[in-house]
Amino acid sequence: MRKQIAAANWKMNLTIQQGEQLIDDILAIPHDIKDNQEVIFAVPAPYLAMAQQKLRNKENVFVAAQNVYSKKSGAYTGEISVDMLSSLAVQYVVIGHSERREYFNESNAFLAEKVNICLDNNIHPIFCCGEALAIREAGTQNEFVASQLKESLYHLSADQIRRIVIAYEPIWAIGTGKTASSAQAQEMHAFIRTSLTDQYGANTANSISILYGGSVKAANAAEIFSQPDVDGGLVGGASLNAEEFASIINALQ
Ligand code: 13P
Repeated sequence: MRKQIAAANWKMNLTIQQGEQLIDDILAIPHDIKDNQEVIFAVPAPYLAMAQQKLRNKENVFVAAQNVYSKKSGAYTGEISVDMLSSLAVQYVVIGHSERREYFNESNAFLAEKVNICLDNNIHPIFCCGEALAIREAGTQNEFVASQLKESLYHLSADQIRRIVIAYEPIWAIGTGKTASSAQAQEMHAFIRTSLTDQYGANTANSISILYGGSVKAANAAEIFSQPDVDGGLVGGASLNAEEFASIINALQ
C-alpha cells in the first residue's frame, strides 16, 4: 500500500521562533498518523536543525529541505549540499517547485541532476510538476507534465523512482485560492500514474505516492484526498496555520 502524505511547505515564511511555535501548536492538536501515513515539514534551510530536533522522535513525521544543489561540495556560495542535509539526518527535499523553476530558472535537465545526487545519497526527492494557466487553457497540460517527468525522472531505474514522491501542483492553483476540482486533480494524477505504468510497470507505478498541491486547505482536503490516485497533499499557505494543517493531517485517508 503506498503512503499517504501530508507535506507542509512553509516557503520563505516565519521566523524561527514562529516556526517552533507552529510545530508545537500542531503537535498539541490531537491528530492521528496511521502506519501508512507520513507528515513532512519542508522548512527554510536555517530552521532544519530546529525542526529535526523537535520532530526526530515522532513516528512517521519527517523534515524536508526546500532546496538542494546538484554538486557534492565546493565553491558554490550560498548553496546547500546533500551531505549537509544528511549530516542533519534530513531525508526529504522538495525539488522542482514551480517557484524555483520560474524565479531561479531551474530547467528539467538541471532538476534531473538534483534528483540524481539526492538518490545517490539516500535523500528522497519530492518532485514537483504542473502546468501554468495558459497551458491548461490550451488543453496541453498532459503533454507538458509528461515532458517534465520524462526529462527529469525517466532516466531512473524502477528501484530509484520508487524512492521519489511526486507532487502535482498546477501553477494556476498555487496561492490563488483557486483549487483544482477533485475531478481535475484525479484526472492528472491518473494520467501521471499511467505514464509511470507505461515506463516502469504497474507494480512500481502503484507504489509511488502522488500528492496534490495548490490551495489545499482544511475545507477541501478530505474531498481531494478521497480521489483514488491522490495520495495526500503538498500544502503552502494553509500549512502556516496549526488548526488548518492538523485538520489536513486528519483528512488523510
Ligand atoms: P498553496 O497551498 O499556498 O497554494 O501552495 C501550494 C504549494 O506551492 C505547495 O508547495
